[in-house]
Amino acid sequence: MKKLIRNIYNLLSISTPYFIIFNYIKNYFPNYRKKNQCLKKDKEIYQNFKSVDITKKWFTNNLYFLSKNLSTLKVKNLLEIGSYEGRSAIFFADIFRGTKISCVDTWSGSDEHENINFKSIEDNFDQNIKFLKDNQLLTKFKMTSDNFFTQNNEKFDFVYVDGDHSKDQVLKDLQNSWSVLNNNGFLLVDDYMWWYYKNLENNPASSVNIFINNNIDQISKLVIWHQVLIQKK
Ligand SMILES: C[S@@+](CC[C@H](N)C(=O)[O-])C[C@H]1O[C@@H](n2cnc3c(N)ncnc32)[C@H](O)[C@@H]1O
Repeated sequence: MKKLIRNIYNLLSISTPYFIIFNYIKNYFPNYRKKNQCLKKDKEIYQNFKSVDITKKWFTNNLYFLSKNLSTLKVKNLLEIGSYEGRSAIFFADIFRGTKISCVDTWSGSDEHENINFKSIEDNFDQNIKFLKDNQLLTKFKMTSDNFFTQNNEKFDFVYVDGDHSKDQVLKDLQNSWSVLNNNGFLLVDDYMWWYYKNLENNPASSVNIFINNNIDQISKLVIWHQVLIQKK
């Protein structure tokens, strides 16, 4: 409950529209206290991946929400901005069997990644996703998201945005992702409730709010949680 109140307070502080806050409150309760289901799913998916750091639970906490909202979707191809060790890519490969995944990452981190050895993070990624690469189900793009969008000609059924979390870059990634998303496709944004920057306006939530406001006419479904799921008309 404390977290819910803090999140609502922060959302109000950055002038989040009320319909977004109500959407979050509506989704908070069904997803709240599903920790056991999340941990069970985490174990099921990652137990064979020795290079996934099992102490890091940032993606785990979303597994119930994700499984519930994504399990019936048909996704032929997927773009992921920000892959790190491959945890989210492995999840998507599991839930969207046979989907082709494009992973974009600089493997050099951003503001929150001080003191992390990205050489070993990238090695872990390579090891974790080898089975997908060997089956031509995953392509690795080691570059910034901006560079990826400049050279890309493909359209995607699903885009996951979890790269640089600074305000301007999140907004840029969302806009670029939207333009390569097929109609009826889904955009999933991580860390909506991530309040890392002291000035609350500089966190991803501000960019997501701007993005939703700018594109509201083109959105057919919106689910606000710690991640945000948006369907394009
Ligand atoms: C939070 S991590 C991604 C976590 C991953 N999705 C998971 O669930 O395990 C963010 C990643 O974004 C990458 N990154 C940072 N800035 C980037 C940029 N401009 N373009 C592409 N990737 C970037 C970092 O190197 C880092 O690996």
